[in-house]
Amino acid sequence: MKTILTGLRPTGNLHLGHYFGAGINYLKLQDEYDFYLEIADVQALTDNFDNPEKVRKNVFEITKDLLAIGLDPNKVHFFIQSKIPQIAELTVFYSNLVTVARLQRNPTVKNEIAQKKDLFGNNGESITYGFLGYPVSQAADITAFDGEVVPVGDDQLPLLEQCREIVRKFNSIYGETLKEPNQVLSNTTRVKGLDGNEKMGKSLGNAIYLVDDKETITKKIMGALTDTNKIKKDDPANPNVCMVYYYHKLVNSKENVETVCNECQKGSRGCVQCKKELIEAMNKFLEPIQERRNTYSDEKVKEILENGTTKALEKATSQLQKVKQAMKIDY
Ligand code: TRP
Repeated sequence: MKTILTGLRPTGNLHLGHYFGAGINYLKLQDEYDFYLEIADVQALTDNFDNPEKVRKNVFEITKDLLAIGLDPNKVHFFIQSKIPQIAELTVFYSNLVTVARLQRNPTVKNEIAQKKDLFGNNGESITYGFLGYPVSQAADITAFDGEVVPVGDDQLPLLEQCREIVRKFNSIYGETLKEPNQVLSNTTRVKGLDGNEKMGKSLGNAIYLVDDKETITKKIMGALTDTNKIKKDDPANPNVCMVYYYHKLVNSKENVETVCNECQKGSRGCVQCKKELIEAMNKFLEPIQERRNTYSDEKVKEILENGTTKALEKATSQLQKVKQAMKIDY
């Protein structure tokens, strides 16, 4: 079985974007690969260093969310990044193999710096060494487990490319040691936000979370963007610009979706009724996920993380040994 590795920053709960964009894909991959899933708390701290409580809480929250969608702890090794010191060691070694200019040109890093003006300044003048260098640490994440395949969205491609460059440079200097990882695109579905934004995101405040209760779902869907040209209940409208129809397509049956579309176009369905039906469908969709989530106690989640970490440590230890030998620092 080939090894697969991916990571998630524990900064918030999973939402529908994560589920359809990545989660469904993980469910398939867990049967086909030896799957390491890193809860990347060290990486989360690179832009949340001033909020350790948030990162700590979300390590457990996000693990529970991943178990809730049906990832099987007997198949997936869930582990916490900070519990694997080998990753930090590899990061130091790899930092010689990448220039500061190259990191500054990384499109993903550039975008993130631009979005975090409060933390890194209007022109990125207050960028930290740690944040600029997180792609190096991510290359360590991947290679510590000999990750051959990495399931990520396309926003992460520049990071994977950076990892491949580091691997090539390492191998050319120290001899063939590391594998160049390949991407499997995580499904590529990008889920739009409640406000019609192309992307559902925590920072955009337009997300439906897998843990949202009925009251929250009702409030969010009632406020979702619909066809703004529809004024009266029986005006015909365009479902293709309506977020309520958009989510019907994600969570409702094919048959119901057709009915919604036809009635909307004809003007025989009001938005309030349509939203109520979506609320019901959404709750029905989330119910089994939330029920499964409830079967995992805090104790159980801790145990799963401990077991996964033990397994991850084994792999990272032998990988670090190989790296040190190649670098002639295996004293
Ligand atoms: N940077 C990734 C994100 O923000 C998270 C991540 C950390 C990751 N380590 C990784 C992804 C290793 C793939 C492989 O989503």
